[in-house]
Amino acid sequence: MAARLGTRVKPVTCVEDLRLLAKRRVPRMFYDYADSGSWTESTYRANATDLDAITLRQRVAVNVGNRSQHSKMIGEPVVMPVAIAPTGMTGMQHADGEILAARAAEKFGVPFTLSTMSVCSIEDVAAHTTKPFWFQLYLMRDREFSLSLIKRAKAAGCSALMLTLDLQILGQRHKDIKNGLSVPPKPTLANLVNMASKLHWCRAMLATRRRQFGNIVGHVKGIDDMSSLSAWTSEQFDPGLDWDAVAWVKEHWGGKLILKGILDVEDAKLAVASGADALIVSNHGGRQLDGAPSSISALPEIAAAVAPQIEVWMDGGIRSGQDVLKALALGAKGTLIGRAFLYGLGAAGEQGVAQCLAIIQKELDLTMAFCGLTAIEQIDGQVLRALPWSR
Ligand SMILES: Cc1cc2nc3c(=O)[nH]c(=O)nc-3n(C[C@H](O)[C@H](O)[C@H](O)COP(=O)(O)O)c2cc1C
Repeated sequence: MAARLGTRVKPVTCVEDLRLLAKRRVPRMFYDYADSGSWTESTYRANATDLDAITLRQRVAVNVGNRSQHSKMIGEPVVMPVAIAPTGMTGMQHADGEILAARAAEKFGVPFTLSTMSVCSIEDVAAHTTKPFWFQLYLMRDREFSLSLIKRAKAAGCSALMLTLDLQILGQRHKDIKNGLSVPPKPTLANLVNMASKLHWCRAMLATRRRQFGNIVGHVKGIDDMSSLSAWTSEQFDPGLDWDAVAWVKEHWGGKLILKGILDVEDAKLAVASGADALIVSNHGGRQLDGAPSSISALPEIAAAVAPQIEVWMDGGIRSGQDVLKALALGAKGTLIGRAFLYGLGAAGEQGVAQCLAIIQKELDLTMAFCGLTAIEQIDGQVLRALPWSR
């Protein structure tokens, strides 16, 4: 039976239901921050529409009585090959958002990735969870500060470092500029009026002390307050990030390294040469290069070129278990979800993230059954009909 969230009368049965609830409950500037892409949003839309356009082969008269979605990502056992992607300002979708999402992921048995630009700090998330999580790093011009983030992630017991390669310069999202996105929100008349209609969000936010960029404020000399993400990004993120810098990060981290934001075969080969453990085929959820290919359309060529020398994962547009199965069929060993879990969080906090994960797992389970499959290792290109798009 589908669970009910809050006072909603109709049961929540899919990620789209969570999105609609989040839209009602989260202040506009933060909902828009999640549900938008850069410039015309063509890549953002393509991520989902290219996944939708893939059709599956239905198989019958196969014994599918005993199914499992268990798998591994970089050697870590996962209940299904779906990790929570790093997302900035998650603690603005819901008070204490990173802690709540990390707890939901831990209870469910999938990895959680904490963004550099999180509201709850590395130490705070570690203090409220019992298993290691992953930390996502944006490389800063100030290498001392980058190093301190790496050391803090190590000290917190993080089991992998995810270095993001596709956002040293910020793509433009029109809505963020128009909404005057800031953390915490500025008390303008428009913001106050909008927030007044989000009572649950306001109550929870007033009850927490976590309303800043927790990994940064108080950790960088001279930064006691930081409201503008775009100003900080343009001043601090290092546009000089190159493969030497990747080697520098790898050497200082010394553990499992995941490279995020690969869309091109040449870059994928360089990722292999860097010695990283996994790469993520990703266009940052359509938030950076508008006009870049959808992640799912870039995946097959990259997987064919570099797997299994490196684990190939994919994110972008995944809203269902069917989408996960399609990504696995096209060569991904793992997937990540960004907006899907954010919608769950905005809709109903920890319970909403848990519900998002449960929905995706159930869809994956049933879709495997309809395709005549009982284990994740059985999923390959045979499950797909002809691809509707080409590169
Ligand atoms: C609101 C939002 C914030 C994000 N912040 C980060 C971030 O801080 N670091 C990062 O590497 N990726 C970030 N991403 C990209 C996600 O990690 C992921 O690549 C993307 O969300 C996948 O697409 P999906 O949202 O369609 O699942 C962000 C994405 C969203 C939607």
